[in-house]
Amino acid sequence: MIIASSRCTKPGLQISSQVLLYMNKAKIAGIAYNVPDRVVTNHDLEDMMDTTDEWIQTRSGIKERRWVEDGMPNSDMALPACKEAIENAGIKPDDLDAIIVGTVSSDYNFPGMAPIIQQKLGVTTNISAFDISAACSAFIYLLEIGSQFIQTGKYKNILLVGSDVMSCLLDKTPAGRATGVLFGDGAGAVVLQPTDDESCILSTHTYANGKGVEMLHAKAPGSMFYPNRIDAEVIAQGHHLPVQNGREVFKNAVVRMPEAINFALEHNNLSLEDVSLVIAHQANYRILQTSAKRMGMSMDKMYVNIHKYGNTTAATIPIAMCEALEEGKFTKGDIIILTAFGAGYTWASAAIRW
Ligand code: ACO
Repeated sequence: MIIASSRCTKPGLQISSQVLLYMNKAKIAGIAYNVPDRVVTNHDLEDMMDTTDEWIQTRSGIKERRWVEDGMPNSDMALPACKEAIENAGIKPDDLDAIIVGTVSSDYNFPGMAPIIQQKLGVTTNISAFDISAACSAFIYLLEIGSQFIQTGKYKNILLVGSDVMSCLLDKTPAGRATGVLFGDGAGAVVLQPTDDESCILSTHTYANGKGVEMLHAKAPGSMFYPNRIDAEVIAQGHHLPVQNGREVFKNAVVRMPEAINFALEHNNLSLEDVSLVIAHQANYRILQTSAKRMGMSMDKMYVNIHKYGNTTAATIPIAMCEALEEGKFTKGDIIILTAFGAGYTWASAAIRW
């Protein structure tokens, strides 16, 4: 394998074709998702959060979401998806070279959830396992990191997990209704492998702008709260809960996701006509609709399942990919574009030939 120096231009990293000749391509060899059985409808939230089914549906398109049974840790929810993705890829847990998890609701404050999943999968080898924190954009960040490890030949089997138990982060009282009604719990997992086939990850582009930090965050536990990172005073002030300026988040999402889709198209010399399906982070139906309109794209090409699950943060894209596949919305050889926007701000896109 030859890895030469690369040229870096905007947008994203451009690697010269000479280098690519000697690099592996990465493919998604296995994919699966898991959502909790417990369905929480908008009606279930009406008394709890002083809201209405009509307000939630009109503002977000959400009809229901899933919540874990009280006390179920994130890793337990993610585990069935991990096992199924590994099986689909035709490997055993011990074949994994790395596990990378994207989440904002890990089982513990530290270590990350990846070593916990390594243990629960029964992996007996000492592999690489770590978490990343990129909120709603995490799954595409994972694809970017994982595909780099495959392209350089460092690893052959990588488990990527996007999983969030948002129900344990929410203020489920009327004070938290503006954010609390939007989220749900869910997990998605993929296994990346090298491939010579035309089915591969064509590109990933990831971006951030820290000016967005104050627009969407949960501050505690955090080192800015001296000396305990979290205590009764920090909790009394609500610093452990997600806080957002919903309108600002909305306005930025509908600019950045179309922009990221366009970067993916340009990078691969594609037009929207070449694309079978756009799978965007499921945050709000109106964000999907506005983004499609800005792209001059019909909603037929924009996958939607937010009405069933709400915003499952790192898990929306792999869940949507699984459901779209089951529904026959794309098949081998088709090109799909993924895009996401979330806290940070972070945003991203990926182009995949399935
Ligand atoms: N039920 C009933 N009323 C509510 C609720 C609720 N759940 N939440 C807020 N309201 C009220 C407010 O109190 C306000 O009342 P007032 O006018 O009497 O003061 C009124 O509804 C309007 O509130 P706004 O916040 O201005 O409502 P808006 O139309 O902006 O919609 C929403 C809010 C749905 C949050 C929207 O801004 C949005 O979707 N933003 C994107 C946020 C997002 O998706 N964040 C997720 C993470 S980031 C990502 O994934 C992209």
